[in-house]
This record gives sequence, structure tokens and C-alpha cells, in this order.
Amino acid sequence: MKKKPLPLLEKVLITGIAAEGKAIAKYNDMVIFIPFVVPGDVVDIQLIRKKHSYAEGKAVYFHEYSAQRVEPFCEHYGVCGGCKWQILPYSEQIRYKQQQVTDNLTRIGKIALPEISPVLGSEKTRFYRNKLEYTFSNKRWMTWEDVQSGKTFENRDALGFHIPDMFDKVLDINECWLQEEPSNAIRLAIKDFCLQHSYPFFDLREQTGLMRNLIIRTSTTGEVMLIVVFYEEDKEKRNALLDFIANRFQEITSLLYIVNQKANDTITDQVVHVFKGKDHIFEQMDVGAKHFLPLRFKIGAKSFYQTNSEQAYNLYTIARNFAGLSGNELVYDLYTGTGTIANFIAKDAKQVIGIEYVPEAIEDAKVNSEINGITNTLFFAGDMKNILNAGFIAQYGRPDVMITDPPRAGMHDDVIGTILFAEPKKIVYVSCNPATQARDLNLLDSKYKVTKVQPVDMFPHTHHVENVVLLELKTNGYE
Ligand SMILES: C[S@@+](CC[C@H](N)C(=O)[O-])C[C@H]1O[C@@H](n2cnc3c(N)ncnc32)[C@H](O)[C@@H]1O
Repeated sequence: MKKKPLPLLEKVLITGIAAEGKAIAKYNDMVIFIPFVVPGDVVDIQLIRKKHSYAEGKAVYFHEYSAQRVEPFCEHYGVCGGCKWQILPYSEQIRYKQQQVTDNLTRIGKIALPEISPVLGSEKTRFYRNKLEYTFSNKRWMTWEDVQSGKTFENRDALGFHIPDMFDKVLDINECWLQEEPSNAIRLAIKDFCLQHSYPFFDLREQTGLMRNLIIRTSTTGEVMLIVVFYEEDKEKRNALLDFIANRFQEITSLLYIVNQKANDTITDQVVHVFKGKDHIFEQMDVGAKHFLPLRFKIGAKSFYQTNSEQAYNLYTIARNFAGLSGNELVYDLYTGTGTIANFIAKDAKQVIGIEYVPEAIEDAKVNSEINGITNTLFFAGDMKNILNAGFIAQYGRPDVMITDPPRAGMHDDVIGTILFAEPKKIVYVSCNPATQARDLNLLDSKYKVTKVQPVDMFPHTHHVENVVLLELKTNGYE
């Protein structure tokens, strides 16, 4: 049976901002989530999905534009999934992020809260990322202009970003405003070379083709890493492309490649080959009073490093201030990644223990202590819920302070159980997802009181917000 088409709702006022960067409108009793609109817009909404109490739709006609709107600066706005909030002034973006943190902590956390400090904005609002990942595809996303032109496109090769929710469609990117040069220049030159020499772009559905992904990492030290990911093994074509890149972009200090023949794009389980230069780059960060030299961090192809380097410094400084260390404390840094926070605070503590899932990241963390002359850190690799238990705490000591910076999913119940058992005097909870953070704070509420909240914007023009919370042990455990 043919499904009834979903209705077109006319002249609907957009009233607020919802999760995932979408905006919200109300129509009768129904809540509708719509991308690429802002509060104050009046639009016709074509519903595309309808559930009992809510619906999803897209704006198909604008009757009025919100007074809040600013012109998007990027030619790919409205199609590309990134930078969805560039139609809002930065001050408004910050206001909505503040609201997001407040809503999550109050509605999900349901705990007593101090005043939430104003979001710390990012000084750089463009070219703030140090890492971008692009995908090659032979199924370029056809923009509205392409379709309207009536032309037929024989070659639909693209190098760019995935269209949201469409795994095999890629938007061809001409200019991206997220990463400093030579990022755009490298991507465009590689695409031209591959088109000129008829290198097959990846077919994501059929899993065929030579060219698969590009990962570009830039650094405040000026070093540049490029990882070219191929699907097929073709030494001649591979070397021709890599030679071309090496000659054209002398500033690339680490030219790497991978041949990834598995179904997904992740490179964590892949062998990384060095074509030219080193297998890593360095990031550096001024640390402040107790360090005379900036800290240097070694970053390999698989290492995690905060993508907004300047704002990472601010984030870590807030975490360190919240921890309020005197030099005598045993600190646990949970989800330490490459040990960045652990090394950042090491000179302020007696000892720091970092725990992290990815073994390569832990190896980098150890190197990062070594190259910075830090001798009071210990690092362990493994799943947090398995490693952090009563036995571990008995062996390595009860922490005075725990810093935790989990992935978006937040912390596992068992990890929270062990934290409650360990009873550190302070917990500094750094989160990239205030919703899961709020859930975890609720679970910690039996013994901890939230005393400080400082949101930080690491990702301008997106809905993402980082939030740092200080929890202090209630004196009698039941206060
Ligand atoms: C948001 S990152 C934090 C990294 C680090 N604190 C930093 O600022 O660079 C979260 C880290 O948690 C790690 N992770 C994810 N799940 C984990 C688990 N179950 N056990 C231990 N570590 C995990 C990830 O590999 C990642 O390095």
C-alpha cells in the first residue's frame, strides 16, 4: 500500500534551538525539528518523518528571515553537515550553548547547581581545527544548482565531506574554513591530480576504487602531516601521487599512507607507512608558571589530540584551576588519551596516573612525559571499567583528585561505582556531551556536590559545547 504523503505546513515560526544543531517549531501539539533555520524565521515546513509526539522536517520556503540571521560565509553552507550555526552571530551561538548546558544539567542532572559561568568563547572562530578528514567518492552529492542546471554529469567524482545520514554521498568541497592552509591547497591539488590521471575514486557501496580518504593534520609548530588512504594496492599509481605531493608541498613534514581494504574508514587497526619525513608531528603548548619551556606533544597518525589547539589550552587551564593542586596530590587522569592533561598538570601534583583504552595513545603519553622531562606520571592501557577497580586503587593509592574526560557516551556505571568507592576529595569532569555528563553527575550526587561549572566553546559554528564541572566530596557523605 502506498504511504500517504506527509503534509506541508505553511508559515510556521521557528521558536528555539534543539539538540544536534537543529531548530525547533511547534505546530498544534507537535514539536518539529528542522535543520538550517534559526529562531525568528517563518517558513513552510515539509515534514519528512512523523512520530506520535514529534516530527522532523525541512524548510522549503522562507516567508521571513529572522532578525538574528547573518550571511553564511561558506559557499557550502546548507548542504555540508558542518558549521550549521554560521547563520547565527557568534554571540548568539554562545548564548544557545549556555542554554544547552543549563538545560541538560537541570533537566537530566536534577541536582543542586552553582551559578553556571558564561561560556568561554573561542578566540579563533575560523580555521580553528588542526585536523580534517576527507572522503573520496565516485558519487558526488548533486546540489540543487546541479539538478536545476539540467546538465548530465558523467564524472561524479568528489573529495570532501559525507552528507549527513547518507553514507555513500559526498559533498565536493571547494573551500573549507575550518583548517589553516595548506589544507585546502593540498586537497584541491590531490583531487586535480587524481582526476587528470584517471585514478578511480572510491565507490562506497561497491567497495571498489583506488582513492579512499585524506587526513590532514596541522600544528602550532608549523609541521604538517598528510595521510593518504588508498583502497586498492597499486604501487605505481600510489608512488606517482605521493611523489607529486612531496614535490609540490615541501611543508609536509610527515607524508604517510595506508592501504585500507576493510569495510569501514577507521585507521586505528591499519598499518601506517612513511613515504617521506617522520611518522609524527609535534604540537606545543605553553603551560605557565611552573614550566619554563612549552610542553611538546608527539602526535602520530592514530593519536588523539584536541582539534582546537588554542582552546585546548584554555580547557586544560580551567581543569587545572578547578583541581586546585598544591603539589602533594595523587591525581588520576581518566580517559587520558595521549596523556595531555596528565602531562599538563604533572608539575603541580605529586603523581599523576593516566588510564586510556588505546594502547598506542598510552605509548605516546609515556613519550610525551619523557620528552618534557616529566618523571611523576604512570600510564595504563585498557578499558576503564576493567582497569579502574578497588584492586587498582589498593595498588596505586587512593586519589586526592580525579580528572575525567570520557568520550561522548559518558562513563560506564562500573566506573562511576569505583569513583564513588575511591572517594577523591575533588572530581574535575570534562565533557564533550553535557547530556551524558548530566546523567553521570546525577549518579555521583550521593557523595558529591557540584561547586563550579564552566562551559567552553571548542567548536564555533557547531552546536557542540564542552563543559568542565568541579565536584567536591560532601563532608559527611550525605550532605
Ligand atoms: C575526549 S577524549 C579525551 C582525551 C584527553 N583527555 C585529551 O584531552 O586529549 C576521550 C578518550 O577516552 C578514550 N576512551 C574511550 N572509551 C574508553 C574506555 N572504555 N576506556 C578507556 N578509555 C576510553 C578514547 O580513546 C579517548 O582517548
